[in-house]
Amino acid sequence: QALLQKFCPENIRLAAEFFAAHLKMVPTMTFVLGSGWDRVLWEIEVVQEFDYREFFALPDAIPGHRYRIVMGQWKGRGILFFMGRLHLYQGYSPWEVAFPVLFSALAGVSTLILTNAAGSLRRSIEPGTLVIIQDQIDFTFFPDFPCSLRPSYDSFLSSLLFELACEKRIKAWKGIYVGVLGPTYETPQEIRMLRKIGADVVGMSTVKEVKLACELGMKVAGISLVTNWGSGISGKPLSHAEVLRVVAQQEENLQKLFQCFVEELYGA
Ligand code: 6GU
Repeated sequence: QALLQKFCPENIRLAAEFFAAHLKMVPTMTFVLGSGWDRVLWEIEVVQEFDYREFFALPDAIPGHRYRIVMGQWKGRGILFFMGRLHLYQGYSPWEVAFPVLFSALAGVSTLILTNAAGSLRRSIEPGTLVIIQDQIDFTFFPDFPCSLRPSYDSFLSSLLFELACEKRIKAWKGIYVGVLGPTYETPQEIRMLRKIGADVVGMSTVKEVKLACELGMKVAGISLVTNWGSGISGKPLSHAEVLRVVAQQEENLQKLFQCFVEELYGA
């Protein structure tokens, strides 16, 4: 891969090779668990655990439980979980932000599920809803890695996620994710603009990861958990406590969704 040999910073490529070489199993699938998704790990058998700090310098003041990589096993299948994200707005480069993608690709993963927390741009999409991402708008205005392939979300994986969510009576939509740089939230007028350009939900992650994954030939799905309204959409803003409650309410549902998803894909 010319992308890796010519453009990937050497320290990141070496970290990815080191990671792949030290895995005790070959994983087939990766879940990147963004904010609000940490506890969506179901009762998988933990084979290995790593701290992100084994590969990257991270700020110290980080709540526990996150920033870990779990090499897990579910009915004989290797599954990787990356818990917690590095963001462009924290000063990390697209390569650093997308490190779970690179690590996974070198480890042999072909299916990538990206999760995030997002704000709703439409009245009809309430907090607590899942949005299965159909396409994205990269509105970060942040330079990309050189990619030759058009980023796209796998329609088979997203249909399966949507159908399983409906089956489990989880409120779900199919929609467009717009990724912005952040870290500040949008003004009401910015929210109107983002809706006008065709987006349904807004967040500060995911878009660069999708680009790298597609370039590396992986199949990608993305899911947003809507934690709040964009500004100006509902009369009163949600408090942080309400956001946490929205997330906590969905935890068990989401665990079941992922478990069924893996079983559908790979056989129970
Ligand atoms: Cl309203 N905006 C952005 N940019 N990211 C978010 C969000 C809103 N809600 C959750 N993540």
